[in-house]
Order: sequence, then C-alpha cells, then structure tokens
Amino acid sequence: MGEQAKISVGGMVTDNAVLKGSVGPDVIDIRKLYAQTKMFTFDPGFTSTASCESALTYIDGEEGVLLHRGYPIGQLAENSSFMEVSYLLLNGELPTAEKLDNFTYTISRHTMLHEQLMQFYRGFRRDAHPMAIMCGVVGALSAFYHDSTDISDPQHRKISSHRLIAKMPTIAAAAYKYSIGQPFVSPDNSLSYTGNFMRMTFGVAAEPYELHPAVEQAMDRIFILHADHEQNASTSTVRLAGSSGANPFACIAAGIACLWGPAHGGANEAALNMLREIGTPDKIPHFIERAKDKNDPFRLMGFGHRVYKNYDPRATVMQSTVREVFDALKVDDPLFETAMRLEELALSDDYFIEKKLFPNVDFYSGIILSAIGFPTTMFTVLFALARTVGWVAQWNEMISDPGQKIGRPRQLYTGPTQRDYSPIGNR
Ligand code: CMC
Repeated sequence: MGEQAKISVGGMVTDNAVLKGSVGPDVIDIRKLYAQTKMFTFDPGFTSTASCESALTYIDGEEGVLLHRGYPIGQLAENSSFMEVSYLLLNGELPTAEKLDNFTYTISRHTMLHEQLMQFYRGFRRDAHPMAIMCGVVGALSAFYHDSTDISDPQHRKISSHRLIAKMPTIAAAAYKYSIGQPFVSPDNSLSYTGNFMRMTFGVAAEPYELHPAVEQAMDRIFILHADHEQNASTSTVRLAGSSGANPFACIAAGIACLWGPAHGGANEAALNMLREIGTPDKIPHFIERAKDKNDPFRLMGFGHRVYKNYDPRATVMQSTVREVFDALKVDDPLFETAMRLEELALSDDYFIEKKLFPNVDFYSGIILSAIGFPTTMFTVLFALARTVGWVAQWNEMISDPGQKIGRPRQLYTGPTQRDYSPIGNR
C-alpha cells in the first residue's frame, strides 16, 4: 500500500490514499470519505481541491512556472506558433513539420460559417458586447453540426474540436465588424491562422489588407500565452458542463460565459480601463491607496492571481511584446509608462509584497491590443478565441477518461430546516 493520509473525525479514523502526480503537490484521495464518515469536505473556491487528473498544463505558482505538456511557456512563446501549440495541447507532443502542415491545413478548411449562422448577428443590437454575441453564436453552433456531437465517438470529438478552433476567429471578427457596421470579411485560407483573423477583423473589401509581420507575430504570441491555463474558472466550467454529456459547442459557450467576468478574462478590459482612469503617473499613489483600502471595492486590475504567488511568466513575455509592437507600428502610448510605474510602485509597497500580488497576463495585454487597434470590448473575445484550444483539449481529456463521472459537488446547507407550508392568508 502506498502512502496514506489519516483523517480522524467523529471518533473514526479513515485511511486515504495519497496520489502522486509527475510533479507538483500530492493529493489526498477523499472519494470514499463521505461513504465512510457521512461528512463532506468544504472548499467553496477550490483553494485546496484538485478537481481532476490532467496531463496538459502544469503551473507552479510559487516559482512562476507554466508548462504545456512539459514545455515552458517562455520557450513556446519565443519559438513556436499558435497552431503548433494547439497541436501540442490536443495531441500531447510537438508535431513534425508534416503533421503541423496537415493540422494547419485541416483547421484552415473549417474557417467558414454557415450562412444561416451569419443571420444570427443581425438579431443583436449593434452596441451589443461582443462577448454576448460570442456566447450566443458559439452556443448556436450545436444546432448546425449534428454530425459531430456524438461525444462518445473520438472522431466526432476531433472534428468538433477542429471546427471550434477554426471558426472562433471568424465568429470573433464578425462580432467586431457587426459592432462597427462594416460588412463581414470572408476567411482567406492562404493566410496564417492569426493573419487570417487580423484580415477578417481589420480588412475591408474595398482595399487590400496589409499586415505588419511583427504585429502578426505579436498577436500569435498573445494567442499562445492564452492557450491554456490548467483548471481555471472557465476551463472548470467547460469540464463541469461537459461532464453531463453536453455537446462541445454548448460546453465552450458555457466557458465563454464564465470567462467574461472581470475576475477572469474580463480583467484585460478592466485593466486598460483602470490605466486610462489613472492617466498620469502622479495619480498612481492615490489608486494604490484605494486598492489597499478594505472599505473601497477598487482593486488593481491585472494584479494578483489565485495560483501565481511569484511573477506570472506570461506577464514577462507580454511586457517585452509591448515594445516590439510599438516599434513595429511606430506608436507610443503614455499608458505604458503609467503601467510600468504602477508595477514598480505596487511591487515596492508592503501590502502587495505581503499578499504576493504581481502583474498577471492581463496587465500589459490591453496596452498591446489597444495599440494594434482593438477596442477594449474585444479584449476578452481574443482571450476566448485563444483559450478555445485549451477548453477543447481539456474537455477531450475528460471525456476520454473511462472513469469520468458527472461533476456533482455537495454543499453545507444553512437554510431553514423542514417546516410546513402556510396558506397565503395566514402569513
Ligand atoms: N488589488 C488589491 N488587492 C488585491 C488584489 C488586487 N488586484 N488581488 C487580491 N487582493 C487582495 C485581496 O483583497 C485579499 O486581501 P485580504 O487577504 O486582506 O482579504 C488578498 O489580496 C487575496 O485576494 P483574494 O481575492 O482572496 O485572492 P483570489 O485568489 O481569490 O483572487 C484574483 C485572485 C485574480 C481574482 C484577484 O487577485 C483579483 O481580483 N485580481 C484582479 C482581477 C484580475 O486581474 N484578474 C485576472 C486574473 S489572471 C487572468 C485570468 O485567469 O483570467
């Protein structure tokens, strides 16, 4: 028998297996705890709970490490492409040149949207948030692809995964075009995944679209940085939705809904709005004081992370990408100076030091995306586009697991105990 953890409760001692991963904290297997003790464990924010077994992504928050299938995010961001990282996440290994070509080709053959699906956009108000449109349109994909929703069939799962990854840029770009009243631009499959997205977003039918290679590369890197992030809130949402057997399009729509929140994917939009509100470096101390004030709901957006208690390695890459984009586009944004000064002041402040609050991936991404020309409302959409591969890879991993069960947490009930109904006249 391997290592056991004893839990002593109510005069009873249970032996619980200690499970070991390839790296990272061991976990105590409490699956039989309720049957043995009639007690649940209580961990509402999952701060001490491993919700699943996974071989995709590893994070060491204390050391600022993020690995996809073992490869450090810094190496992938520097040397790889979003298509290659997508292949890696889905298949477990880096592809050969031939496999990468085939994969890229396959994805490029699924980029178009059904004409009926394009009609959906016209039902939204022009000022609808593009995340609202994404939730609706991605959920609606379920109604179009009955031929790939048998989740017990690995081939169906593969095709629906490819469709989701391929169509997300078209859906996102169309949401943007709709909001500014421009006609949709059809995909051009001769371009790279990221180049095609940029053209569909910023190109117009009236003239040829020219994309700066440095900007294309920066955008591709931003997609890599967002591709997967272990069991975060939206990924856990996708897994929980998928655990009931729901089809993948519905599950990814659920993930998009979760990602939208300002504590998660919505933070990049909130971070840039905050920097704009701060404006000049002389205002920073006032906002730092507000962030520290328990009676003020204001938080430094783009700061802090549930897992990273050291620097977020994605923020490091993001910060260096800001300069590359500025140089390529020959622009500057005084907010970058404000952001760097804010980081410097916050990181020398006892409050942020003690609570181990560092810039996260969202702190600098808004400055880059804004320089490229995206409105803030599109920021979270870009996150959703890139995270789709992580979501489908995690969903696939879960469904492929023969021991997979529906996710069904329990609760600590604190409501009224049983009482009798009283007729309305007696209340
Ligand atoms: N500004 C000021 N104080 C903060 C911040 C912040 N950004 N983040 C955490 N704290 C404080 C918080 O008030 C708490 O203090 P105390 O212990 O005195 O109550 C302590 O630090 C721990 O915070 P928490 O909210 O209990 O930590 P959490 O792990 O539940 O939350 C977080 C993590 C990311 C939601 C939070 O740090 C936050 O709200 N940050 C701002 C939003 C943000 O940037 N989100 C993007 C996360 S990275 C991308 C993604 O995953 O989507």
